[in-house]
Amino acid sequence: MSDKPQGVGLTTRQGHPVFDNQNTRSVGSRGPLVLEDYQFLEKMSHFDRERIPERVVHARGAAAHGIFVPTGKAGDDPITKYTRAKVFTPGTQTPIFLRFSTVIHGGHSPETLRDPRGFAIKFYTETGNWDLVGNNLKVFFIRDAMKFPDMVHAFKPDPVHNRQQMNRFFDFVSCTPEATHMITHLFSPWGIPATYREMQGSGVNTYKLVDAEGKTVLCKFHFQPRMGVRNLTAEQASEIQAKDFNHATGDLYDAIARGEFPEWDFFIQVMSDDEHPELDWDPLDVTKLWPEEQFPFLHVGHIQLNRNPVDYHNEVEQVAFGTGVLVDGIDFSDDKMLQGRTFAYSDTQRYRVGPNYLQLPINAPKCPFATNQRGGQMSYHVDGAEQGANKHVNYEPSNFHGLVEQPRLGPPPRIQVSGEVGRQKIERTNDFKQAGERWRQFSDFERDDLVKNLVGALSECAPVIREKMVCYFMQADREYGRRVAEGLGISMPERQAAE
Ligand code: HEM
Repeated sequence: MSDKPQGVGLTTRQGHPVFDNQNTRSVGSRGPLVLEDYQFLEKMSHFDRERIPERVVHARGAAAHGIFVPTGKAGDDPITKYTRAKVFTPGTQTPIFLRFSTVIHGGHSPETLRDPRGFAIKFYTETGNWDLVGNNLKVFFIRDAMKFPDMVHAFKPDPVHNRQQMNRFFDFVSCTPEATHMITHLFSPWGIPATYREMQGSGVNTYKLVDAEGKTVLCKFHFQPRMGVRNLTAEQASEIQAKDFNHATGDLYDAIARGEFPEWDFFIQVMSDDEHPELDWDPLDVTKLWPEEQFPFLHVGHIQLNRNPVDYHNEVEQVAFGTGVLVDGIDFSDDKMLQGRTFAYSDTQRYRVGPNYLQLPINAPKCPFATNQRGGQMSYHVDGAEQGANKHVNYEPSNFHGLVEQPRLGPPPRIQVSGEVGRQKIERTNDFKQAGERWRQFSDFERDDLVKNLVGALSECAPVIREKMVCYFMQADREYGRRVAEGLGISMPERQAAE
């Protein structure tokens, strides 16, 4: 029998074989250590740098690889009449990477907390990457990107003692009436999805689809889990949290490892590309749903997750999604939130991952790509080298076989803008109507749970906050406001209570 150890031989990152990985180099067996122990210094200094800054929001996440398969046969599918995006061509399959997350707390926080859940997909399409950076809930707290840093500060732990406080959370919300619709979702059981496999996804923002002639429609994207939706009450969540605060990550990883591949049906909603003065809300306002009866869900395909990441850090931590990452056939709408978001993502990723974050395999397109971008920290790839580009010419135009502009994939969408520049609110705010509709659509159990959760959270808040919030719920639906007021022991003016 050979005494040669079994397994792959350990080396340093410089390729030197390691024959002792247990003992530092020292003078005699009791030390001191010697400074020329390069092997130890390399091992320890790499360890010291193992972490990168965590995401400023959505730090806690889990992800998996999979595929997107569009619906239908050529000429008989619901979406290719609206968009020329190749990713929707019937008969194709596109690799995807989907990251789920919670929003507010840090990288190791419990996955049972009341919080929206992220639902971010990278489609590695044949015409470049498309990122759809969505959430499970279909609406959002605010409608202008200017308010995002304040909102996140109020929701995150207190900057002095580092604990999240409902008084700070609702302080901001009580000054932000447009959040009423989102709060109505979030404090119902829909605020704690049971697992990532059993929750919906939505692009939330409004995009445009561009057809072969350059004509556009407004569009929203949605995903429905084939397993069905399941949510938790606060009590059910606490019970899980007491035993396991990684339950959603575990559920996703273990299911895929067992070969139970989660799937979601993919739908779009469309409306003509104009301001829709007939609606009493603005179609570009992310605090609003597009009612399904008016704007039906069109089935355009499904996604399946079928492969776990090999390395959490390399894939799940360093993956970088952005709302600016669109393909030909999908475009921005004038949705102000969408445009504000688009700056934030690549900006934070240059800081969080580094200026060459797009060279990492998880972020790089899987179709050929060739740029004149060179250098920067950790650069190693010469874009275009595989396609035989002249490596000396890292500029354009040139007479010497440098990279050249490509033909358009179709006519550009026609965009005309006019108006006065200024800091302005949208006109049709209508902050409460859809919150009231949501309340009335909930089952009795969901309404009871919502009231209980709101009363619990608002009991921790100052009287001025409670009163303002009751006033918002009242404007959404009198019964809704009355029940929260009752729970908080706030007496309603007689006239209001009678109505
Ligand atoms: C992550 C900004 C609104 C969904 C992030 C990150 C930033 C950010 C800076 C961290 C990105 C990273 O480190 O890679 C903003 C701003 C917003 C906004 C400025 C509003 C103006 C929204 C909305 C949604 C959303 C409305 C849902 C539709 C997500 C998701 C992630 C994320 C899912 C995590 C992506 C991942 O898994 O890596 N956001 N966000 N955000 N945001 Fe937003």
